[in-house]
Amino acid sequence: MRQENRVRTFHISTYGCQMNLADSSTLASTLTTRGYRRVADESDADLIILNTCSVREKAEDRVYGRLGEIYKFKKQKPHLKVAVVGCMAQRLGQDLVDRVPHVDYVLGTDRVFELPDVLEGREGTSAIMTAFGHENMDGIEPIKEKPWSGFITISRGCDNYCTYCIVPFVRGREREHSADYIVDAARKMADEGVVELTLLGQNVNSYKYEETDFPDLLRRVARESGIPRLRYMTSHPKDLSRKLVQVMAEEPKIMPHIHLPLQSGANRILNRMGRIYTIEHYLKIIDHIRAALPYVAITTDLIVGFPSETEEEYEATLAAVKQVGYDSAFMFRYSVRPGTTAARYADDVPEEDKIRRLNKLIALQQEISYERNQREIGEVRWGLVEGHSRRSKDRMRARTEGNKTVLFPAGDISPGSVVPIRITAADAFTLHGEIAEVH
Ligand code: SAH
Ligand code: SF4
Ligand code: F3S
Repeated sequence: MRQENRVRTFHISTYGCQMNLADSSTLASTLTTRGYRRVADESDADLIILNTCSVREKAEDRVYGRLGEIYKFKKQKPHLKVAVVGCMAQRLGQDLVDRVPHVDYVLGTDRVFELPDVLEGREGTSAIMTAFGHENMDGIEPIKEKPWSGFITISRGCDNYCTYCIVPFVRGREREHSADYIVDAARKMADEGVVELTLLGQNVNSYKYEETDFPDLLRRVARESGIPRLRYMTSHPKDLSRKLVQVMAEEPKIMPHIHLPLQSGANRILNRMGRIYTIEHYLKIIDHIRAALPYVAITTDLIVGFPSETEEEYEATLAAVKQVGYDSAFMFRYSVRPGTTAARYADDVPEEDKIRRLNKLIALQQEISYERNQREIGEVRWGLVEGHSRRSKDRMRARTEGNKTVLFPAGDISPGSVVPIRITAADAFTLHGEIAEVH
């Protein structure tokens, strides 16, 4: 390769979940260590990396849209390289290049971190790599995007095979880091000044490494790492144990927030989704959580328009949402993912019904979020300051224990500080407050 065409600078855009964010940060640090420079502006990059998501068709469409725009840059700058990595790369492999020929590299979820080797043409690498089983997890350093906040992926992959979901296909079998590795990594982050750490996995509750289960792991990180605030994502209701709730109640460093995807409020649909639990079991868990944790934010994921979902079954989801009273929710229209079990079912809920169901659900959840947030008024929450509000220089933004955004009048407070904030007002999406005096 001629010297002037060598890749020196790169830009990464990330789609999808926090796992992908964590992977992008790790990839950026791997590339930087190898002498490549990260640039904030795509137009300064010799290599554009898209770390992609396949969870819904829309997520993939966004990447195709982006690749269309990149095609224009590439015509002006022929030496520009384009790498598509992550879940969509894993799902499509060669098909992606057949469809979008100006993509230079396609690296699946297990091969992402080999990108520098691929760029340098190392033996055994090639431009398109999607085979599983190549990842050396212990070589992968956890990373922090902001100096005060860190993520550690405790397990990769998923063995649940919910019938609608592409993740097990694109992320592979579940595999875990050892508890010692995680505790050491957390300790290192604490030493470097990380204030809030999030442990990540598709289903953290099924974590098991030798004798350590997830509650044990959480307790060890809370007690041994020195990290002041600890979070985790995501819990599967079938595996959320009483022991976990007890550890949360006993360890003040674990933030009182549980993301517990319900998906549907109707048992027939839950069963067809392969979710294992019933709505009755789910509601029992919620009661138990609320009884054990005096202040807890509960959030969820919901899908409307799953194959064969009737109007009554959809109503059952609305009823469950009302009954639980979620602080917030991610809500989606069902999207067929090729290769999944549900892709064999007729996608028979008409698109206009899916849209109507989703809109009504969103409106309901917005009312509930508003009502839940009103309850915070008068309380003092400890906010981790993230910086200035995106809209106004006069306000600063912090994240509460329940993972809600709170805005307060700007003062001389550096990002990464944890400050007491009295909540004075709230809407459906944001809390508002002022710095409180704490005695
Ligand atoms: N591991 C996490 C979720 C990962 S995907 C868990 O099990 O909770 C995030 C969310 O996307 C899911 O909870 C689900 O609500 C939604 N989702 C997944 N596949 C989908 C599909 N085919 N159509 C619509 N939404 C989907
Ligand atoms: Fe997908 Fe289910 Fe695994 Fe979550 S638990 S990633 S929804 S298969
Ligand atoms: Fe995450 Fe999307 Fe992959 S949700 S695991 S980036 S398919």
